[in-house]
Amino acid sequence: MTETATLNIRHAVAADARALAHHMAEWFLAAYSHASSAGNLASFVTTNFSPQKQAAEISNPQIVTLVAEAGSDMVGYAQLRFATPAPPSITEPGSAEVGRFYLAPTHHGRGTAALLMRAVRAAARERDRRWLWLLVWQQAPQAIRFYEKQGFKKTGDAVFMVGDDRKADWVMHAPAADITDSSQ
Ligand SMILES: CC(C)(COP(=O)(O)OP(=O)(O)OC[C@H]1O[C@@H](n2cnc3c(N)ncnc32)[C@H](O)[C@@H]1OP(=O)(O)O)[C@@H](O)C(=O)NCCC(=O)NCCS
Repeated sequence: MTETATLNIRHAVAADARALAHHMAEWFLAAYSHASSAGNLASFVTTNFSPQKQAAEISNPQIVTLVAEAGSDMVGYAQLRFATPAPPSITEPGSAEVGRFYLAPTHHGRGTAALLMRAVRAAARERDRRWLWLLVWQQAPQAIRFYEKQGFKKTGDAVFMVGDDRKADWVMHAPAADITDSSQ
């Protein structure tokens, strides 16, 4: 199924902080609550997904938060981070991190993710970044498959902390050029 024409992707604004924090927690738990203890999940959600934290990230000039909306419903979001130190396996200068990339479960498999990644790539190029990198859990086959379809390749390994739970991640990278436009 492909996405309908009503999908809108825009930069988050301060007024989005509360809804964004709510959906961040909701979609993280929908995807990964099976993978860590309740205590570690609660610690991760509290640390990362408060409205205050999202307000700070939205106003941070080194972070771009994009939200995808279907009508008035927020159905996905992504965060690009420009100042995060890249892992050692990322050697291209001026790479930007795709720090978070999540859809509502109702929007999986509908083409929304490709549209959101296209917007992420455009936002990276607007800041003169030529490469993207990200971390993905090794046991997240749906996300890995999506990133591979988007041209991401594994460059190394990393540890991602969920509370005090050490998750074995892959580091992946891809050009920021739009994969549907070979002229870029
Ligand atoms: C990652 C995410 C944004 C991708 O969006 P999506 O709409 O699922 O992406 P797509 O449908 O385009 O691609 C997913 C692919 O994985 C495949 N897939 C789905 N479940 C799978 C599974 N359990 N094992 C292997 N492949 C799987 C799909 O069939 C599809 O591949 P195909 O197009 O070759 O058939 C979305 O799944 C999501 O929000 N997941 C939860 C959050 C998350 O993990 N984010 C990434 C954090 S690093």
